[in-house]
Amino acid sequence: MWHGRFKQDTAKIVQDFTQSLDIDWRMYECDIQGSIAHVRMLGKTGLLTLEESEKIETGLNKVLQEIHEGKFTPSESLEDVHMNIESRLTQIEPLGAKLHTARSRNDQVATTTRLYLRERLRTLRVELSELLKALIDNAERHVNVIIPGYTHMQQAQPISMGHYWLSWLEAFNRDLKRLDNALDSLNESPLGAGALAGSTLPIDRELTAKIMGFSSPTRNSLDTVANRDYMLDFHYFASVLMTHFSRLCTDLITWNTQEFAFIILPDEFCTGSSMMPQKKNPDVLELTRGKTGQVVGNLFDLLMNLKGLPMTYNRDLQEDKRGLWSSLDTTERVINVMSALLTRVEVDEVKAIAGLEKGYSLATDVAEYLVMKGVPFREAHLQVGKLVGWCIENNLAFDELTLSQWREHIPEADEDLLRILSPRESVRRRNVFGATGFEQVKRQINDARKILQ
Ligand code: ARG
Repeated sequence: MWHGRFKQDTAKIVQDFTQSLDIDWRMYECDIQGSIAHVRMLGKTGLLTLEESEKIETGLNKVLQEIHEGKFTPSESLEDVHMNIESRLTQIEPLGAKLHTARSRNDQVATTTRLYLRERLRTLRVELSELLKALIDNAERHVNVIIPGYTHMQQAQPISMGHYWLSWLEAFNRDLKRLDNALDSLNESPLGAGALAGSTLPIDRELTAKIMGFSSPTRNSLDTVANRDYMLDFHYFASVLMTHFSRLCTDLITWNTQEFAFIILPDEFCTGSSMMPQKKNPDVLELTRGKTGQVVGNLFDLLMNLKGLPMTYNRDLQEDKRGLWSSLDTTERVINVMSALLTRVEVDEVKAIAGLEKGYSLATDVAEYLVMKGVPFREAHLQVGKLVGWCIENNLAFDELTLSQWREHIPEADEDLLRILSPRESVRRRNVFGATGFEQVKRQINDARKILQ
């Protein structure tokens, strides 16, 4: 394309090194979409005749058809998706030589990538919404199921499993907002920024923006060809999303161990061992956790790429796509497999509660009972703490203590204390806004359904 200025052909080794076709070919449809917008604008503004514009558009559609039918094989000697399509167009329709009027690959590649990313993010948005629905369904299934809640990986207080699922709903709902933010930050059209400074030709950037469904053209042509913030916004979304999945997976992996053993994963979502016949391994969860680093790494990859770049376009920017595809593909696969898996997770409530009853996870409930009897909380905390120490020394659980034993340690204890000392009562009585009480969880489910709609 640039042989006018050069005396020698590009060396083969340089062609191999500089081409990006293997990476950017997947955007061919978006490249054509951008070119069609561009050529319609050229026709409308009189830079081409309407007839020329229509012929070029027809040619572009033919290229697209050839690609779909597997009849056109692009060549790395033409460097990238953009030059391959333009070159094929010009073979089919010689007027194709007019297509690149008032355009550079710098605004073209930014346009194409935004279009591609927009399409993928719209799909991800639907898929992520399905995940949110799955979590609400799980919450509904498990409102009345009680599990131990942990802090520091130590039993803390009993909670509703429904409440647990809703905690992830909050996290993934924030991810959905970050996804929307990424969609928002790509929503301006780079086309017409040219190589960096715009064009002397009277193009209509509003029109191309409108044809492609962007809210407006970008405001500064220099920034336009240098900017990859919309990719960073996606990468940040994807990194936080994967971090959420990774933490969720750690919970499920842990609770699925023989030692905890209170959740059951469907066989279909587990794999066996080639040697040990008894094994049923949570590989989907481990792989999800294991992929998180790649996605976070891709965020850092792009940040490192950008940090030293001067205004405006630099060829370094061609390296922005490998990580983008990697993170797009990984997050999409993870969202889909995790949505499918989560709806199939079962809880063994007997085992979950069996773990609880031996512990002292109702200690706070006793302290709060004493608060209601007028004991200052610090005093109550001390009394109950001493009682727990005594129980541990004597190998006794709370529910093995008689009322007189309670009274020996806690004079304010009454019959009504014994009635609240069960995991179910403990959960039920936590009835403040946002808490784990069954009524609260049901309200949270209703609210969540409304928000999702
Ligand atoms: N393949 C290039 C990329 O992906 C297209 C832009 C090339 N521009 C240039 N000035 N060499 O970034």
